[in-house]
Amino acid sequence: EERPEPSSPRRVSQYACQRRTTITNHNKIFTDAFEVLVEQAEFNENEGRCLAFMRATSVLKSLSGAVRCLGDLEGLPCLGDQTKAVMEDILECGKSSKVQEILSDEKYRALKLFTSVFGVGRKTAEKWYRKGHRTFDEVHADDTIGLNRMQKAGFLYYSDILKGLSRAEADALGRIVENTVRKIVPDAIVALTGGFRRGKECGHDVDFIITTPALGEHEGLLGRVVNKFQYQGILLYHEHQESTFDLTKLPSRRFEAMDHYEKCFLVLKLKRGLVEMDSQMDDAAQRQWRAVRVDLVVPPITHFAFALLGWTGSRQFERDLRRFAQHERKMLLDNHALYDKTKKVFLSAKTEEEIFAQLGLEYIPPWERNA
Ligand code: CTP
Ligand code: MN
Ligand code: MN
Ligand code: MN
Repeated sequence: EERPEPSSPRRVSQYACQRRTTITNHNKIFTDAFEVLVEQAEFNENEGRCLAFMRATSVLKSLSGAVRCLGDLEGLPCLGDQTKAVMEDILECGKSSKVQEILSDEKYRALKLFTSVFGVGRKTAEKWYRKGHRTFDEVHADDTIGLNRMQKAGFLYYSDILKGLSRAEADALGRIVENTVRKIVPDAIVALTGGFRRGKECGHDVDFIITTPALGEHEGLLGRVVNKFQYQGILLYHEHQESTFDLTKLPSRRFEAMDHYEKCFLVLKLKRGLVEMDSQMDDAAQRQWRAVRVDLVVPPITHFAFALLGWTGSRQFERDLRRFAQHERKMLLDNHALYDKTKKVFLSAKTEEEIFAQLGLEYIPPWERNA
């Protein structure tokens, strides 16, 4: 009598930082639906529901195959009755009625549209919605609405920014940033971070960490880099934030809090490649360039590894790194430092590998952090 091989017992951690998640997502049909539910929960400030669907999304992204029935979910963490009900719907009908309902909801659609503008967050979007606006035209026609500099840039370059960037474009930008930085400090370090470091093929922006091997030489560098962009005629917008870095501060418990490094949010001109030039062109495409979003972060060299780990993401990976540190190790981690609450000491690290080791975690390379 033949017996089926017992399926190997799965031990999937509840923490994304103990799972390996590549960019290949075999469960997109479910995670796309969950992402709508996450967004809806965010709009409604329902933190618990938001977290539940974010964690479920992340677990599904880590699986090596597609879920074909609810039985496939046995032994997996972070999948409660609510998430399973949505998945059951999708397994049976190919879509979730709950998600369909949200997608056609007036408020959801308006907030989704408004927050797609660079510089417009949930609060602003909500404000515009409550004033009765549903479209950009209605927002623009309202004299009582004052747009800040970032939002003005957001509308000015809306379609370019929305389109995002390809890997090739990110690499081209990397060369521009590196050349510019190295003209000022020849041995400066320019590290690609964010989604492209995780191996993504496209992204909504390109993120770089910039620092110098000599401590202190990074000070004033960012301002000079931005001036050079201006001089090269490629600077469309920038918001420069000075460092508010304090070595003695304990790592922040709040994930969403901004880090304290000097940074710059930019919109730059990127020359179009020849490949794109001969395709069908609309008005915007006839320009020889397009607008792209770039983030530059400048930590001191002593904190490079923490900044790199923090800015590589994904957001869920970062959230779970911090949660793991706190709940499993009694340590506090943020983009600046790792603090051992038991020993009351800061744990330094020169590389990401050292931070994982300090946390007692197996090292996960960037391309497996797409949680
Ligand atoms: N990040 C951060 N503090 C911020 C902004 C971002 O620590 N103020 C971190 C986040 O943890 C995020 C990473 O930097 O994971 C990159 O942010 P972002 O560019 O928004 O996301 P990506 O993962 O790069 O994806 P995308 O393609 O949308 O840019
Ligand atoms: Mn990014
Ligand atoms: Mn993003
Ligand atoms: Mn970014």
